Amino acid sequence: MPLGLDLHLDLTRGRPGRSLEEALRAAITDGRLAPDTRLPAARSLAADLGISRNTVADVYAQLAAEGWLTARVGAGTWVAHRGTAASGARPAPVRKRPWVGLRAGIPSTTVFGRREWTTAVRQAVLDASAADLGYPDPAGTPQLRAALAAYLARTRGVVARQDSIVVGHGYAELLGLVCRALRNRGAERVAVEQYGHDSHRRVIAAAGLTVVPVPVDEDGAEVRLLERLGVSAVVLTPAHQFPVGVPLAPDRHRWLASWAGRTGALVIEDDYDGEFRYDRRTIGALQSLAPDRVAYVGTASKATVPAIGLAWGVLPGWLLPDVLEQRDLSGARPSALNELALARYLTDHHYDRSVRRLRATYRMRRARLAQVTAEELPGCEVTGLSAGLQCLLTLPPHVPEDAVLREALDRGLRLEGLGSFSCEGAPGDLPPALAIGYAEPAPAQYDRALQLLVESIRSASPAGAALARPRTR
Ligand SMILES: Cc1ncc(COP(=O)(O)O)c(C=O)c1O
Repeated sequence: MPLGLDLHLDLTRGRPGRSLEEALRAAITDGRLAPDTRLPAARSLAADLGISRNTVADVYAQLAAEGWLTARVGAGTWVAHRGTAASGARPAPVRKRPWVGLRAGIPSTTVFGRREWTTAVRQAVLDASAADLGYPDPAGTPQLRAALAAYLARTRGVVARQDSIVVGHGYAELLGLVCRALRNRGAERVAVEQYGHDSHRRVIAAAGLTVVPVPVDEDGAEVRLLERLGVSAVVLTPAHQFPVGVPLAPDRHRWLASWAGRTGALVIEDDYDGEFRYDRRTIGALQSLAPDRVAYVGTASKATVPAIGLAWGVLPGWLLPDVLEQRDLSGARPSALNELALARYLTDHHYDRSVRRLRATYRMRRARLAQVTAEELPGCEVTGLSAGLQCLLTLPPHVPEDAVLREALDRGLRLEGLGSFSCEGAPGDLPPALAIGYAEPAPAQYDRALQLLVESIRSASPAGAALARPRTR
């Protein structure tokens, strides 16, 4: 069988050979046929165009002789690489050493159990019924929602039923759906923690809501201030404030549940890294205190990999239909096959194994970070290490965040300062600090990333020598 590939070519009238030759040259020159694109077998293209096979073979041979195509006898014909000089494009400068990163919120992608995920995908596809392969339930597949209800109740104490769960692409999508549902119900103002992702604040604002910052102290967000902020909802990271790293104090959990009950407000609980605690103190989900007033949102990105692209919301019954309506209007929904694979991954306990494996890795990394800071960076302090994938490294008062970030960039290290997480126009009260994510580097690069961090902080210090203490042996 000749290789039949569809190929769109604008053939002019006249001699078929000449016309095909010109059409192929034009398609290659203007980039429609990129280098390495495989062309159909001569016999197949000839049949599609209604011309003779020999004409096509002659054109292929001619263009190969001119360097437009490469042909391998018995294998096929491809569009050739013709160098970049002719196109005028300049090659990008190449860094001598690859970039490394210590960015908050970026999970490891190297510890992921690819084999287990492949098994789950394979099993999900083989087991899928004909109905499973059709248009899915807009809230998500029943299999995944059932698996999540059991998992979240067992590991996070979430009060969840299959039919209170909506599956989404990621946290930000679910946040957007909830915010648009609230806006439709008349909400105008939503509180957020003083420090957090700007992209999440923009999602809230894009739903037509005003974002109102709440300060963060050593007990988490100062939630009692909500009393006088006139907001309809608040978005929080109670298990491990992002990026400051403190958990929300238990009395604040209770206060919030009662405030929401009293005022009818909604708490949006972002449980992005709730599974990763390193001490024995488990901090269950806030949602369990007030399931009717809390929209709990979790993500698969930290316990698996972001490329899976799935998250979930456990929603109060009164909010769920409105969120599904927003899902309908958005026209987007996750892939059902991906959901079925995650359901399988959960019920076969690969998800639990993945969390435990990552926890062990992160536990070692945070210990190493604490050790390096203690030994090499006097004057710096690491806090927020008891959970999650990131912590706060507070800089000495005379070392500006910006200077450290510049030094890091020069060394090929991607870092983020606490300042970049602060709400615009409302600078936070915390001293200059770095939000250090210890999950990002590949295992072999972690020590190098820490060494670059030490160098960057030392070089940014006006009294650099004061920071540089020789390592004790
Ligand atoms: C604070 C916070 N919330 C939520 C998320 C989850 O986002 P996603 O589901 O898009 O991976 C992240 C990821 O970085 C995060 O840092």
